[in-house]
Amino acid sequence: MASTAPIGFFDSGVGGISVLKKAMDILPQEDFVYFGDSLNAPYGDKDLATIKKLSFQVVEKLMEYSIKALVVACNTATSAAIEDLRQSYPDLPVIGIEPALKVAVDHTETGNILVLATKRTLEEKKFKNLLDRYKESRSVETLPLPGLVEIIEEGGDYQEKSYLFLEEALKSVEKEMSAVVLGCTHYPFIKPSLRRIYGKDVLIVDGSEGTARHLKEVLLERDLLTDKEEKGTLLVLNSSPEEKFQELSFRLLEESSDQ
Ligand code: SIN
Repeated sequence: MASTAPIGFFDSGVGGISVLKKAMDILPQEDFVYFGDSLNAPYGDKDLATIKKLSFQVVEKLMEYSIKALVVACNTATSAAIEDLRQSYPDLPVIGIEPALKVAVDHTETGNILVLATKRTLEEKKFKNLLDRYKESRSVETLPLPGLVEIIEEGGDYQEKSYLFLEEALKSVEKEMSAVVLGCTHYPFIKPSLRRIYGKDVLIVDGSEGTARHLKEVLLERDLLTDKEEKGTLLVLNSSPEEKFQELSFRLLEESSDQ
């Protein structure tokens, strides 16, 4: 039966807005509740038990809104907690995001692929299994970027600051890449900075569109799509009491339209 209940999204902070935007574009009549855990961001350098605990805390809050589906719009939380979340909420469709390595492999015939993600995402079994599928046929390099999420969470002139950060960080890897995979939901916002470094011919991909499409398929399969005809609503929540995260969330939602 069609459902008008909202779809819950969460991330360690404001990064998941990049996934939310794609979902809002393809599901315009749905209502969304987004929870950014900016008070505890970043998750990427925390241990597994802490990330699981934080993820459960956020999901409990989202459950208060009677959500009909949950999108873990955070690569780190997906790798650390998605299986446990699915077990604890067996009736709730739980959709995660993972680095779009397959998209990069499918769209480039040769050349190096660079996966940028947090330390935790790169170290977890989920990513190792994904990498195993492609590492025989393609040269895949990985690079954790501790400190980058914090720059984006700060807002302000995060684009210029990320550019300077990336220029330095990317010195440690082979410059010639055919594709760069953004394996953290904060990173799509700094695509302009990566373009400045890699130029226009390098493919830069992220998992936001695939995740939004997967969400739509799951809702369709379970007959959970809304039957409302008017435009849906968006509620943005944040664990931080600082007003700036609300503003930043809406600013990033706007800036996602340019990606
Ligand atoms: C982080 O909180 O460290 C990054 C979130 C992500 O992996 O998408």
